[in-house]
Amino acid sequence: MSETKYTYEPFVWSDWMSTGVEVIDTQHQNLLNMVNDAYNSITETTSPMTFQRITKELLSYAIYHFQTEESLMKEYDYFGERSDDAAQHIKEHRDFSAKIVAVRKTFNSGDRDQIIPVLEFLKTWIANHTQKVDMKLGVFIQAKEAERSSSKSD
Ligand SMILES: [Fe+2]
Repeated sequence: MSETKYTYEPFVWSDWMSTGVEVIDTQHQNLLNMVNDAYNSITETTSPMTFQRITKELLSYAIYHFQTEESLMKEYDYFGERSDDAAQHIKEHRDFSAKIVAVRKTFNSGDRDQIIPVLEFLKTWIANHTQKVDMKLGVFIQAKEAERSSSKSD
């Protein structure tokens, strides 16, 4: 029973996840690798200390990545020009962080049953978020970049 619970299919980054913005794509690959690593290192016997270290690193990297995207949103005035998309995007970032914070608390209280579902959630979240909201942002940034370079050459 417990063996099946820890079975994990690593999620490999591939081109369909590309937003067309290099810094975002690189960070997405790193984030995915971190989730995969977390799966590989967390077992039934993982100590609370190890679990806290792994999830803390994951959370810090996620926050760093979200800051990168959010400063790009500011730079290209995503908030002004696509306020609904921007609000949705920010909300998803906050939900992701809150989920990691919640599972770290859960683990402290001794309940390990939530770990795998949460890691599954993170994996699925990255795929969905990348495909939907990050892709929209990528298209927007690329259009802005194109505008900038055409106005330069005018
Ligand atoms: Fe994002």
